[in-house]
Amino acid sequence: MCGIVGYLGKRNTMRVLLSGLTSLEYRGYDSAGVSFIKDGKINVIKRKGKVEELKKAVAEEGYTLEEDKGNSIKAGIGHTRWATHGAPSDENSHPHLSMNGKICVVHNGIIENYVELRRFLSKKGYVFVSETDTEVAAQLIEYYYSRRGDNDLRAAVRAASQDIIGSYALCVICDDMPDVIVCAKKDNPVVIGLGEDENFVASDVLAVMEYTKDVVYLEDNSIVTITRDGIEVCDFFGEKVDYKVEKIKWDADTAQKGGYKHFMMKEMYEEPKVFEATVAPRIKNNDIIFDGIDLGDMTDINKINVIACGTAYHAGCIGKFLIEKMCRIPVVCTVASEFCYSDPIIDEKTLTIVISQSGETLDTRQAMREAKSLGSRTLAIVNVIGSTIAREADSVIYTAAGPEISVASTKAYVTQLGVMYLLAMKFAHILGKIDDDEYKRLQGELLEIPSKLKTILDKQIEIQRFASSKFNAESIFFIGRGLDYYLSMEASLKLKEISYIHSESYPGGELKHGTIALIEEGTLVVSPITQQELCAKMESNIKEVSTRGASVLVIIPEKFRDIGFSCESKFIIPDCDELMTPILGVLPCQLFAYYMAVNKGCDVDKPRNLAKSVTVE
Ligand code: AGP
Repeated sequence: MCGIVGYLGKRNTMRVLLSGLTSLEYRGYDSAGVSFIKDGKINVIKRKGKVEELKKAVAEEGYTLEEDKGNSIKAGIGHTRWATHGAPSDENSHPHLSMNGKICVVHNGIIENYVELRRFLSKKGYVFVSETDTEVAAQLIEYYYSRRGDNDLRAAVRAASQDIIGSYALCVICDDMPDVIVCAKKDNPVVIGLGEDENFVASDVLAVMEYTKDVVYLEDNSIVTITRDGIEVCDFFGEKVDYKVEKIKWDADTAQKGGYKHFMMKEMYEEPKVFEATVAPRIKNNDIIFDGIDLGDMTDINKINVIACGTAYHAGCIGKFLIEKMCRIPVVCTVASEFCYSDPIIDEKTLTIVISQSGETLDTRQAMREAKSLGSRTLAIVNVIGSTIAREADSVIYTAAGPEISVASTKAYVTQLGVMYLLAMKFAHILGKIDDDEYKRLQGELLEIPSKLKTILDKQIEIQRFASSKFNAESIFFIGRGLDYYLSMEASLKLKEISYIHSESYPGGELKHGTIALIEEGTLVVSPITQQELCAKMESNIKEVSTRGASVLVIIPEKFRDIGFSCESKFIIPDCDELMTPILGVLPCQLFAYYMAVNKGCDVDKPRNLAKSVTVE
């Protein structure tokens, strides 16, 4: 997802912009740029490639990042672009200037009617130099600005916002007002950082948390005018609106690697701590409490929908299994991008659970809106406080994973599972499906998970060793049954997205119905086998593939240690309640994916083509 940074104030503006863009690199991008007003003129420096390339270009233009050199630059905005309209190139990079150089814009999101707007502006004599929708926004704002002739930049941005169809976070500067930044927000996050004699704007709190903990999460359909002395927020009709100042709860070093080689490894090591931080505070006096949510109000629910994408979807699949098994309520788990086009069967007795780490994934946001329009109540499980999905859902349960920088989700997934277990247990107890003793026992089991995750981390050398001999594999199969199949789905995605090795997850019993034709000498198969009632069947499935030459790694609980699986390697995880094995079983799979990617020399934290949060459909 693209990243935005803006600054007005006492510091070295260039330094603030570039360090802000660096903190947003984790989101995935392919070009970067800055724009700033100096001596009454808008300057733009932008490059295809990494922020490092941009830093070199800035230095070549003679700009220092030294703080003590004062600040000759007035308003400044910066951007990291994840290409949608127009290939990655210097010309298509943001920021974008209007033709006359008076207006400059950075933009997250998509302008769906940019072709019509471009045609309209071309007829008015505007000439375009890029293929982007963002340049259309810059020209359109200038069109209204020059037509008004009253130097009211906010009014020009507001007028342009009325014409634009799509999703956007726009930051705009104008050479006539070097001490102002105007931002418009619709369906893409904008956070304002409030300081003393300085103010910040960004698409993600990570870009401002080094300087301030006081932030304003801009509401949709808002326009904010920022100066170094303060901010003013209005709606799209020009009416002033109140805003709420919130405190960032994360600390700046959380967003640093802390001595680990990759954020992904750091975040796997954080899993015990963040799982506990997500689960333990919600278990009080042998009961599960969700602040601000009374599941008792939901006993009329007769169906549950789960919608999410990617890893969050896999957490939803585990949640489906748990709720159906414990609560005996039907659950449909759908990838968000399919949901809106599946003609879903939903009414006011449906609860829709929306899972999203970032809280900004556009597919998921659209699906939640569709579910709401059909009368469903919505409950979001989100990691980023104040994000769009968190604010638009009827109720929200925050995971406490902290900032997840690595594009591949690890700790956030584990905390999403934690919340799904809490929900299933709470619901089952309310519905009378489990008695007080079972309810209490399960709570105790959940509270033991963090120490068991630590045990797995302490023996990760076994995974590292196995991966060191397998990283040249061209295709890997993950097979499992029941919960282990859903776990296999996540294991397969993790491997694919960071090692670029093709992989498939398959129900163990399904392989023989076709795909086993792909198994040959040396094919690598990884199989979590944790469910007692399915163990014998999985033993057969492992035999089926190993007799055809496959090399098999099984991931099994301690209690299965002495079973003679026909496999090359075993990784033992601590015993726990069988329903909770996916929380433990996923960690060796994450470690396996990590070491395979490291052995292949891949960019573990910033895999090719991927973004941390996908805000395009
Ligand atoms: C996770 O490893 C992937 N990066 C991706 O599948 C991600 O889970 C998906 O894009 C959903 O993101 P969200 O949880 O922020 O909505």
